[in-house]
Amino acid sequence: MYIGDSSEPDFAARLCGIAETTRFGRHEASDAVQVFRAEDVRELLRDRRLWSTRDISELVARLPIEVRPVYTRLCEFLGLWPAFSDGPYNRRIRAHLITGLAGAAADEVRAALRRDLSALLAGRVGTRFDWIADVSVPYAHLVLARSIGVSIDEARRVTELGERIMRSIASTGIDVERAEQALAASKEMRDWLEHAIGVGGSRFISAVADIWRDIDSGPQAATAALAQVVTGSYQPLIGVMGALVEIIDADHLRSLPIPVIREEAIRLATPFRYVSRFTRCPMTIGDHELGADGRVMLLLATANVDPSAVPEPLEVRDRPKRANLAFGAGPHYCPGAAVARMAIDIVLEQLRGSGHVFAIGKVTREPEFSVLQYYSIVGELTEASVAAP
Ligand code: HEM
Repeated sequence: MYIGDSSEPDFAARLCGIAETTRFGRHEASDAVQVFRAEDVRELLRDRRLWSTRDISELVARLPIEVRPVYTRLCEFLGLWPAFSDGPYNRRIRAHLITGLAGAAADEVRAALRRDLSALLAGRVGTRFDWIADVSVPYAHLVLARSIGVSIDEARRVTELGERIMRSIASTGIDVERAEQALAASKEMRDWLEHAIGVGGSRFISAVADIWRDIDSGPQAATAALAQVVTGSYQPLIGVMGALVEIIDADHLRSLPIPVIREEAIRLATPFRYVSRFTRCPMTIGDHELGADGRVMLLLATANVDPSAVPEPLEVRDRPKRANLAFGAGPHYCPGAAVARMAIDIVLEQLRGSGHVFAIGKVTREPEFSVLQYYSIVGELTEASVAAP
């Protein structure tokens, strides 16, 4: 089923309408079964018959012979990413990442990010600027830098490499040049990581160094773990930053606690609009029968505005935290959720503390569905009475 043009202003209402009227669908281009409602999505995220690992042998066998080696290498690298792996390997890598990110939302990181954000907003009141390019992008680099303990220049560098890898994953059809660029970027990321491990430093880099030295994982797995953290944190954070100024107004800031507003902004943004899973054995979903290695799309974005699970889903309200599926659920639940929540809380505190809201002039969004992406949000910070009662 076609989900619609995600750059349209009424797209959220459209997602809500889909969840209301439709339980399952078929995505024609990929032949995936789509799952739209919250209860089904939550259940299938924990279903052991579904895995994130994809058997690539058949996929590669269908490609022209001359492009198979480059795609095999790319798929092997992607298969090492936590989000595309399962079982003991995934659990081992996750354990290291969770250790590495344990202090990433600590008080001193929060304090440093508060200063960073104040500096980014200084002198902007009453001037027109782009909330995405001028604030959200540098802020996302700073969040990454502070939470993994590297310099801002290094955070920019690894993000740029991560984006180059993502461009190849996002391209549909065979594009050997992009696949080669992705492999070259992964090699540069590996070299960067080797150097960072050699120099030593943060808790996060030490945790990734443990993956690097682990005989069962190794340097490629460590690079894949870093690539996942970089790409998994950067775009979605910018997406929530954008959604936040589109959704949150002075009334919300005045009347609701910050954690409630943050959770609602993340729920309504749901930057990763779906996650893919593959069947490990034949199974039936709704009326759809799938063989082994059948593809399933679990639509977090419709599940998060499903009126049967979230009453009046487009309203910003105090709701149980469980209502929010933006970070997934089950064995792949986002290990960076605390970092993302901290980063958004700081922005909301700053807006409430300074008594400003961002008055939007013009918004432009990417029309692609898979990840929420803004091109720009131009407007200005204006005075608003937002002090909590
Ligand atoms: C608003 C920001 C974020 C959102 C919405 C988000 C969302 C998600 C989702 C939905 C998944 C599960 C994917 C699946 O089930 O296939 C995930 C996994 C992951 N996220 Fe996040 N994420 C965010 C920020 C972060 C940050 C800040 C980090 C790290 C600092 C991070 C690191 C990861 C990693 C490593 C995984 C893979 C875990 C696994 O598959 O075992 N994410 N994220």
